[in-house]
Amino acid sequence: MNYKELKELVEKRYSVRKFEDKKVEKEKILEVLDAARFAPSAHNYQPWHFVVLTEEDMLEKIQSVYEPQWFKAAPAVIVALVDHDKSWTRDDGKDHSDVDIGITVDHLTLAATANDLGTCWVCAFDAEKCKEVLELPENMEPVTLIPIGYPKYPEAKQKIREDLDTMVSWEGYLEK
Ligand SMILES: Cc1cc2nc3c(=O)[nH]c(=O)nc-3n(C[C@H](O)[C@H](O)[C@H](O)COP(=O)(O)O)c2cc1C
Repeated sequence: MNYKELKELVEKRYSVRKFEDKKVEKEKILEVLDAARFAPSAHNYQPWHFVVLTEEDMLEKIQSVYEPQWFKAAPAVIVALVDHDKSWTRDDGKDHSDVDIGITVDHLTLAATANDLGTCWVCAFDAEKCKEVLELPENMEPVTLIPIGYPKYPEAKQKIREDLDTMVSWEGYLEK
């Protein structure tokens, strides 16, 4: 893959909140998870776990932790968990699990896009309730829900992003 193709892929990915009424093939879900598997992580501890929900009863349970109506149309939901017993903590106490999960989920969402699937990060959910419905042990924290399915609209409408000048300074930090 060259830069142009990579750029097209990252620009194509967007937060999909409208899905076709169509199941996602298990092979495709396994492919996106396999891309997630190759993400870098602090000390290569790979402190993550993914719970894939596709059955009606489990989808209903996960829908109870995030209310918006659009979420109910997702044919599958992947719950990304961090294992706090496995993640790397720096000497000053900073646990890097959020960094690690961010990278692996980004791999996942880009692989999904490459597989013509749509995803959306969802973090505004009830994490305590999620732990209950999934019967998670204390060390496992659900960080994000990733609804996944075939998007109604395959292309992003418009990407609202700051330009490079605003987000980059060279040879030292310059307040913009
Ligand atoms: C850490 C994180 C948490 C997010 N949580 C939610 C959420 O709870 N609900 C939602 O609809 N979108 C959520 N989003 C999606 C963002 O709103 C979206 O990524 C952002 O507006 C940029 O749009 P784009 O993904 O289409 O490029 C979240 C995104 C990130 C990265």
